[in-house]
Amino acid sequence: MVMGLKADSLNDPGDLPHLKNLSNIRDREDQEEVKMPRKIFIFDTTLRDGEQVPGASLNAAEKMEIARQLAKLKVDVIEAGNPISSLEDFESVSSIAQEIKGPVICALARCVAADVDRAGEAIKDCEKPMIHVYIGVSDIHMSGQLRKTPEQVMKMAVSSVQQAKSMCHEVEFSPMDAARARPDYLYEVIEATIEAGATVINIPDTVGYAVPEQFGQLISDIGQNVPNISKVRLSVHCHDDLGMATSNSLAAVKAGATQIECTINGMGERAGNTALEEVVMGIKTRSDYLDAYTDIKTQEVMNASRLVSRLTGFPVPPNKPIVGSNAFAHSSGVHQDGVLKERTTFEIMNPEDVGLQESEIILTARSGRHALRHRLSELGYELSDEQINRAYERFLKVADKKKEVFDEDLTAIVEDELPSIPQTYYLDYIQVSSGTRFVPTATIGLRKGDELIQEAAYGDGPVDAAYKAIDKITGVKVELADYSIHAATKGKDAMGAVLVRIRDNGHTFIGRGASTDIIEASAKAYVNAINKMLHGTK
Ligand code: KIV
Ligand code: ZN
Repeated sequence: MVMGLKADSLNDPGDLPHLKNLSNIRDREDQEEVKMPRKIFIFDTTLRDGEQVPGASLNAAEKMEIARQLAKLKVDVIEAGNPISSLEDFESVSSIAQEIKGPVICALARCVAADVDRAGEAIKDCEKPMIHVYIGVSDIHMSGQLRKTPEQVMKMAVSSVQQAKSMCHEVEFSPMDAARARPDYLYEVIEATIEAGATVINIPDTVGYAVPEQFGQLISDIGQNVPNISKVRLSVHCHDDLGMATSNSLAAVKAGATQIECTINGMGERAGNTALEEVVMGIKTRSDYLDAYTDIKTQEVMNASRLVSRLTGFPVPPNKPIVGSNAFAHSSGVHQDGVLKERTTFEIMNPEDVGLQESEIILTARSGRHALRHRLSELGYELSDEQINRAYERFLKVADKKKEVFDEDLTAIVEDELPSIPQTYYLDYIQVSSGTRFVPTATIGLRKGDELIQEAAYGDGPVDAAYKAIDKITGVKVELADYSIHAATKGKDAMGAVLVRIRDNGHTFIGRGASTDIIEASAKAYVNAINKMLHGTK
């Protein structure tokens, strides 16, 4: 049975602007081009390629939160995961497919029958489903990894597209490592998979090897050499190994591609994928050159970036384009002078266009529940009355210690106070003593239900001592794989936000904790990670 999407929803020939562009390329010599801005589809793969990063490990609730934000951002396609990879991934893709309305929800599969079946099963209840199948087509992938002849690979590609098509109208095919493939073979595979029913052809630069002029040329060559290319949407998927993913994607757009695959904050394998925020703002800012636009609600970009950074535990570097904390900061006197006189002297984008706004309300110990609820809602947290009460109690404690409570403090409070998983253990109190002449010791009280369990331990430092005391209480043996701390805001009175990664049996669990006392924040983060482990969720 063919599921869901009406034929016209993505690929009505009238809705295929890249075809206009490809035919523009063909006609350019004969006639003067009529410039029509082309819509560029944004295919987000944060939850699939982005999540493949070691240590990113998102649980199902976190993936759903990101999917909701991607829908707010108005991406065209969400690649929700690779259902065959684990039961957890399968369930997460199915629940995103059932709940999220608006974007197309896509499931990835290798060109293997069992994978395609599982992908189809995961998205069967989706309003707008898509299956994405891929197989390596460069000589090095075919002989070095797949150990298959080009003819065998061609057969696998065609039969997988046909199988996917029998379950779902929208089928994307990716000839993996296309940027290093022999062009003639690549054209043949593309032609055959379109014939088999693919509606989107995605050209991956899997290892980040291409350079912009060459990649753009590859896209126009595909336009010229694949006779049935006009039946599909042409997409690109670039990796950033040489720092050229954004440039390659935009060069491809200039050459006729009408879909970019990308991730929030450029998360992804190795050096990552094309960053969504970079290509979207590149297209918006240089629409004069690219003759293109996207449907992205750019004011949601900052929220998406912060959410993904917070949930994956990967900080955004300050100098990261668009979303780094310095991306709109001007420090040189000349620049400051220019911006104050006329913003556009040194700013090519308006910070408000990416969702950067100075809060007009400053929260202090005198602020009430209403102001707190209002600000939290602006930050994307819709809390119940009971949750607001808990967050408010905690807010007052922080506000007593600090003069002003900033957005980052609020985020830390909410994340800390309202964990998304059941709390088997809850930190009741912590007492530490340490100093240059003492052996650091910690006494910890953890609540388990109504019971208060207390233990003391010594260690190499106060955090080590606290963790050893917690280990004694919980009785679980875990490996501390990573520990990091940063100030949630500026100033000496800033809250410390701690992130830990613990490992158990090859699984990684992320824990977070925040407090104006960094030892307490460290203990909370560790307990949070252990609770996730005990609950069996990442
Ligand atoms: O990088 C790649 O080639 C991929 C494919 C699955 C599209 O991620
Ligand atoms: Zn990839």
